[in-house]
Amino acid sequence: MKILHTAISAQKISLGLRKKNKIIGFVPTMGYLHEGHLSLIKTARKKADTVFVSIFVNPLQFGPQEDLAKYPRDFKRDEKFCREAGVNFIFYPNVKEMYPENYSTYVNVENITEKLEGEIRPDHFRGVATVVLKLLNIVQPHFAVFGQKDAQQACVIKKMVEDLNVNTKIIVCPTVREKGGLAMSSRNTYLSLEQRKDAAYLFKALEYAKRKIQTENYNRDIDFLKSQMTKLIKSRSTVTKIDYISFNDNRTLAEIDSLKNIENKEILVSLAVRFSNLRLIDNIIIKR
Ligand code: PAF
Repeated sequence: MKILHTAISAQKISLGLRKKNKIIGFVPTMGYLHEGHLSLIKTARKKADTVFVSIFVNPLQFGPQEDLAKYPRDFKRDEKFCREAGVNFIFYPNVKEMYPENYSTYVNVENITEKLEGEIRPDHFRGVATVVLKLLNIVQPHFAVFGQKDAQQACVIKKMVEDLNVNTKIIVCPTVREKGGLAMSSRNTYLSLEQRKDAAYLFKALEYAKRKIQTENYNRDIDFLKSQMTKLIKSRSTVTKIDYISFNDNRTLAEIDSLKNIENKEILVSLAVRFSNLRLIDNIIIKR
């Protein structure tokens, strides 16, 4: 396994591999890897000749009040993790390499970035889309793998790749969960024991919605489902705020406010909940 620090070195290697008809799979990350990342790497490992992982905590996608400085980092641990998972190259640039002093180009994916996470984190997806497009141009992968846990991010990246004719296939893998149902996240490391137990209720609320929606002829309105989910989550003492519980079309992210006439659709139910300073997101896709 090789560690590459510059865009030009990663690009040269990729172009060389492409000339030899090697399939390149890519997993972009911000490091502090966990089982969720491992499942993405495993998917890439199965389908590719060469697997690239990038580790870069992207300052552009953090708001001024967010946890950029505190975001967990441990490169040695990540390196070991990648080696054991069969990764061939880690792209590990510093901030100057990605955003030199005169940097001035940004990617804005309109319409689907203003709602849900975008409402609370206004420039977040501009930062995500910009760094992902840069990483795809650097690594030049045949496919890139992302997690369903960041559902809106996956939609935004798919839309960007489609709109800008990027020659990379986007693969989205299911969310990996802890035993109690809590979605794996690097930020879970900040949860106290009590908060961790309560955080498992996010998935219980999502499963409740799924059970109800998949019940034949279930026609109660979405507001009723939202209020039941809110009750369940608020029953946990360490929950400080629910930012949103939302029902959307999984492809367009158009809001769904009634189950009437919804057939053959994938409904994305997503939520964001605060536990003091920590904010967790989760989602489930329901076929109806
Ligand atoms: O999902 C993440 O870890 C990040 O948003 C990504 C895609 C690596 C971009 O920084």
